[in-house]
Amino acid sequence: MTSPRRTFAIISHPDAGKTTLTEKLLYVGGAIHLAGEVKARGQNRRARSDWMKIEQQRGISVTSSVMTFEKDGVTFNLLDTPGHEDFSEDTYRTLTAVDSAVMVIDAARGIEAQTRKLFEVCRLRNVPIITFVNKVDREGRDPFELLDEVAEMLQLDVCPMSWPVGMGGEFEGVYDLYANTLARPEGGSREFMGAPVAFTGLADPALADTLSPEGLARLRDEAELAQGGYSTFDAEAYRGGDLTPVYFGSALKDFGIAELIGALADYAPPPRAQPAEPAAVAPEGKEVTGFIFKVQANMDPQHRDRIAFMRLCSGTFKRGMKLTPTGHGKPIAVHSPILFFAQDREIADEAFPGDIIGIPNHGTLRVGDTLSEKADVRFTGLPNFAPEILRRVVLKDPTKTKQLRKALDDMAEEGVTQVFYPEIGSNWIIGVVGQLQLDVLLSRLDAEYKVAAALEPAPFDTARWISAGDAGDLKSFTDINRSAMARDRDDNPVFLAKSAWEVGYVADRYPKVKFAATRER
Ligand code: G4P
Repeated sequence: MTSPRRTFAIISHPDAGKTTLTEKLLYVGGAIHLAGEVKARGQNRRARSDWMKIEQQRGISVTSSVMTFEKDGVTFNLLDTPGHEDFSEDTYRTLTAVDSAVMVIDAARGIEAQTRKLFEVCRLRNVPIITFVNKVDREGRDPFELLDEVAEMLQLDVCPMSWPVGMGGEFEGVYDLYANTLARPEGGSREFMGAPVAFTGLADPALADTLSPEGLARLRDEAELAQGGYSTFDAEAYRGGDLTPVYFGSALKDFGIAELIGALADYAPPPRAQPAEPAAVAPEGKEVTGFIFKVQANMDPQHRDRIAFMRLCSGTFKRGMKLTPTGHGKPIAVHSPILFFAQDREIADEAFPGDIIGIPNHGTLRVGDTLSEKADVRFTGLPNFAPEILRRVVLKDPTKTKQLRKALDDMAEEGVTQVFYPEIGSNWIIGVVGQLQLDVLLSRLDAEYKVAAALEPAPFDTARWISAGDAGDLKSFTDINRSAMARDRDDNPVFLAKSAWEVGYVADRYPKVKFAATRER
């Protein structure tokens, strides 16, 4: 028997405390031994690669990774989503590979822009969410106000699982409304030391020995109101994406961490069936199948290797196994699959549905690829998005055309940027969903490919993948609009438009041509 799997991501707005919480989860899970290691490791890595300077300057994390830890017989796979403000395809795709998410919000700020966007992505895929209201050791907003905000902005039923006794200067601990235990701040640092005090319930007179009279009165009043006013916990409603259990805590001071891990273990869904053609793939299936949701180049600057991150969807993967990318390519023998532990990467001998394995390769594996033993399925729903920003790439040294093409192709493959080769003219055009990706592109061109280039405004603002039922219709459209036609990395025809309005206008005039804002691979 394999241990149960929980594959999840943390979604949050920058600064809400995702890094701190990640670190504490790994610490409690025994995967790291010193608080501060996640950050320290991050800085190390940053120092090694130039383009990552952007991360440092902007205080963001562009690269996402996988961290695996075990606790009480459950294996947790935590997928890191880049937390910067520019919504990127990378973030979206990472969320396609998880079964649930933890939403971290800052008690003083509530739901912020990025939290909301990431939440929308989760909703699209019915990913259930556990909410963690962080930083209750600091002054924060009224808990009722925060709960109402989650309920209203996200249209979810909320169920408080714990309750903070005051916040900031008046903080006296967090009361678990279901286990009837109190986690108290102790010592000079006012941290939770890991020993909650048990009570028979909120009416237990012993509470008066632990809390101040004001704190206790407040807890009783508020908890009563909260239990009456919000939903009670319903695991099915949570798994269906209709209800979010809410934990109050402090990642920095260790409040709520054990409860969060417990909730993931007890309530979060195990690996779910994944949408695929000809039929959804259930994790119980015997055949080994998975999909690539991320490709990362040059994780190790010494080797120009590439790691494709595959989410295993069914079967028991064994090292050395031959898997075939559906639709293209020959079977590949996966001799050195990588499992990601917090501190190290290890060669995996076996992996199970819900696990993420890294497959080293030289560019054969692409984001969106399905891998399987028989090449008889294809996972769906990993789209490319129409870029919102287009730029013309201008080479400073014209002898570097070949290197530039390689770099642009590589990065298109990783999903960092999209590249379009216009039918007319020699200036290639790149497209991105967020501004930040432009900086990443330039910086990597320079650092990894030694290509000095500049980006100039393109005469276009957006792009659509075009198709038509009849080849003749497509040809007559492309002939007439040649100056706006380009090919993407996979040679698909793309119509470049000056505005979304123009797309609408042209689409009206050519009803037989389809204009798609996303392209599924
Ligand atoms: P992020 O990954 O979501 O961007 O957030 P991160 O964990 O880096 O936390 C952002 C800041 O909030 C950090 O402070 C961190 O120490 C602080 N923080 C996180 N959780 C808590 C909490 O529960 N309580 C309190 N009081 N603070 C918390 P910083 O000063 O910006 O960074 P650092 O100098 O501490 O590294």
